[in-house]
Amino acid sequence: MGYKIAVIPGDGTGPEVVAEGLKVLKAVSEKFRFKYQLEHYDLGGERYLKTKETLPGSVLNELKQMDAIYLGAIGHPDVKPGILEKGILLKIRFELDQYINLRPVKLYPGVETPLKDKGPEDIDFVIVRENTEGAYTGLGGIFKKGTPDEVAVQEAVHTRKGVERCIRYAFEYCRKRDQKNKVTMCGKTNVLTYAFDLWERTFYEVAKEFEGIETDYAHVDAICMWMMKNPEWFDVIVTDNMFGDIITDLGAMVQGGLGIAAGGNINPDGVSMFEPIGGSAPKYTGMGVVSPLAAICACQMMLGHLREEKAARRIEEAIMKVVKEDVKSLSAGKMGYTTSQVGDLVVKYIVRK
Ligand code: IPM
Ligand code: MN
Repeated sequence: MGYKIAVIPGDGTGPEVVAEGLKVLKAVSEKFRFKYQLEHYDLGGERYLKTKETLPGSVLNELKQMDAIYLGAIGHPDVKPGILEKGILLKIRFELDQYINLRPVKLYPGVETPLKDKGPEDIDFVIVRENTEGAYTGLGGIFKKGTPDEVAVQEAVHTRKGVERCIRYAFEYCRKRDQKNKVTMCGKTNVLTYAFDLWERTFYEVAKEFEGIETDYAHVDAICMWMMKNPEWFDVIVTDNMFGDIITDLGAMVQGGLGIAAGGNINPDGVSMFEPIGGSAPKYTGMGVVSPLAAICACQMMLGHLREEKAARRIEEAIMKVVKEDVKSLSAGKMGYTTSQVGDLVVKYIVRK
C-alpha cells in the first residue's frame, strides 16, 4: 500500500515538471524502500473549458483521503483570471484547511542570485505565510457595478485562531530548524492598526512559550528592502496571506528564480499539498525547456513532510549536484539540457552509490 499521493499535473508546463518529480519519487522509493500509490486527477484549464468543472465535490472528497497532494500548476490563458485559482487552488487550500504556506528560500552553490555580493551563506531562510484568511477569503462585493457610482469592497479577515496557529507553527518550525533561532513578524502595524494589532499581540504572547527564540518585527515594505540588502538577517519570517504572497515571490527571485522555488500548503493535522511555485508558463508548454527542479524540490518537501527524511535529504543532495555541476542556468531554455534530461541527472545522482 504505502503512501497515497494525489497527483494534479494541471496546466501548461505543470505535467512536464510533475513527470520529472515522479521519476525522482520512484528512484528514492526504490533506494529507501518505501511504497506509494499515485492517483492522478485531471484538473485545470482544459477540463474547465470542456466541462465547466473546476473541482468536483467527489474529487475533493477523495483528496481528503490522501496522505499528500502533488500539484504541478494551475492557470490557463483562455480562462478568465480567478476562476481556476479560486475554483481549484484556493478551494483545496481552504477546504483542506492548509493553513500554512511554507516557502523555504535557500540559495544553493552554483545558482545565480540577482543580489550582488550575496551567496549561499547569506540566503537561507523560510517564509511562513498564513494560507486561509486575510484578503483571500473572498468576502466583499461590488455595489452599483458598471455605473459611475460603483463601489468595491474586499475585506481582509484575521481571526485570533488563524493568526495564533500560524504564528505558533512559525515558532515551532524555527525551533526544529535550529539555525539562527529568530522569528521575524512581517506586518504593517503603522497603517493596518486593527489587523496587525491582533497579529502583534498574538506574536509576543506566543513567543513567551519559546524561550531562546529571538523575536523581531519589520513592516512589509521595509522587509522588501531588507530581503534585498541583508537577507542574512532572516531565519523564519511569519506573515499574513497577502503580504506572504508578495514577499514569497521576492524570495523566489533571491534564491535563483521560479526554476527552483517550491512551496508546501500545510495542514499539520491533515492533508498537505506541495507545488513548484512557478505557474503554468503557457508560452513554454510542451517545449521541454523549463526547469523541473522546482517540482523536484516540491517532491523533496513532500517526502520530508511524510517523514521520509533520508529520501528527502538524498533528493536535496542530488539537486545540489545538478545545479553545481550540470545545468548552466535555471532560466527556461538556458539550462543546457531539456526538462527531462535534468530529471534524469537528478535520478542519476540519487541511484549512484
Ligand atoms: C501563490 C499563487 C496563488 C496565490 C495564486 C495562483 C492564487 O500566487 O501560490 O502564491 O496568490 O496564493
Ligand atoms: Mn503568489
